[in-house]
Amino acid sequence: MQNFEFYNPTRILFGQGMVAKLAEQVPADARLLILYGGSSAEKNGTLAEVRAALDGRMVHEFGGIEANPTYETLMRAVETIRREKLDFLLAVGGGSVIDGTKFVAAAVAYEGDAWDIMTTRGACVTAALPYGTVLTLPATGSEMNCGSVITRRQTREKLAFGNQLVFPRFSVLDPTKTYSLPLRQVANGVVDAFVHIMEQYLTYPAGGMAQDRFAESLLVSLIEIGPKVIAEPDNYDLRANFMWIATLALNGLIGAGVPQDWATHMIGHELTARYDIDHARTLAVVLPSMLRIRKAAKRGKLLQYARRVWNLHDGDEDTRIETAIAKTEAFFESLDIPTRLSAYTIGADAIDGLIAQLDAHGMTALGERAEVSLDVSRRVLEGAL
Ligand code: NZQ
Ligand code: ZN
Repeated sequence: MQNFEFYNPTRILFGQGMVAKLAEQVPADARLLILYGGSSAEKNGTLAEVRAALDGRMVHEFGGIEANPTYETLMRAVETIRREKLDFLLAVGGGSVIDGTKFVAAAVAYEGDAWDIMTTRGACVTAALPYGTVLTLPATGSEMNCGSVITRRQTREKLAFGNQLVFPRFSVLDPTKTYSLPLRQVANGVVDAFVHIMEQYLTYPAGGMAQDRFAESLLVSLIEIGPKVIAEPDNYDLRANFMWIATLALNGLIGAGVPQDWATHMIGHELTARYDIDHARTLAVVLPSMLRIRKAAKRGKLLQYARRVWNLHDGDEDTRIETAIAKTEAFFESLDIPTRLSAYTIGADAIDGLIAQLDAHGMTALGERAEVSLDVSRRVLEGAL
């Protein structure tokens, strides 16, 4: 196992009715800004519950944070906070609202051009406003991590940053708040969480016994409940399990002390930036091809994945590996998530542009051994056509 530091200060308030606990979590004298997305949090009653829990507090609101939150919109929130001298943030929504809130929390405290936060990947952040979240969409794990992905509309760039100063203080996870999700978003969430686990697990054997078994149990659980959370949208236990699994998939635990990949995510971000494909859908297209192209480097873990996650014990090693990848694809497809670029009418002529974007963003040596060069990324994209 590699040396590691583990730090996660986020308090979790999990379960039905926990929104009422907001009053205990938000300081009584806070000058608060509630940030939310489009109309879903208003329509499903989450915002009403939040307002009721914070009745009597000094509260402003900022709505309109888009899916794939943009720098342009978020900078308007920064202006509001500075003008009104607000000092505590509350994100109500999915990964986009939470990511956007992380950026806002850091940008308010930053004196230079706030886009520096993205180009330095968070290294320039030295202070951030405190904030909490009320999660409405299990998928990204953003509710319990310190990463954020922001899009600059003007230049069609989608970049990630991370900094320990932007962990949420607390996150409320009430599974009933997910009942109103469109099934497409539920399927996206299952696939996003699945790929988060794979990016931290499917690298090379590194002796992280607990991390491996933990990752495998999360993968097996997602395979088991993925179709059910879609078939039974208001089954509390299924939604509760799904919500907690998605959080555990990216709160740092399974990735501590083991190598991590993230090449699939970096290529996926370029697909979203250029073609507006939902985040999880880009991953479903890239991951299977990534595993095939890097089969040799990932051989040890692919065999372990085949054996422990898909129960493949018979046949030669190559057949088991190929079957495990095919089963992964079939799992995504069973959730109605395509695994080929052609489903988005993206052809070979798109690849040069995507590679140029990766190059422009310094994504030239990705993966657990930094061996995913632009040439490897090109082959991955060709394999996903
Ligand atoms: O805008 P509203 O009206 O609220 O609708 C949203 C949005 O259209 C809707 N929604 C959310 N909760 C709902 C609901 N609709 C009905 N009922 C509810 N309870 O769902 C749509 C998608 O929301 P969004 O927040 O964009 O989805 P998700 O949570 O999948 O977040 C995706 C973003 O997170 C980033 C992605 O790149 C993408 O920008 N990621 C963040 C990560 C992190 N911080 O660690 C890691 C991930 O890999 C990912 O990159
Ligand atoms: Zn993701």
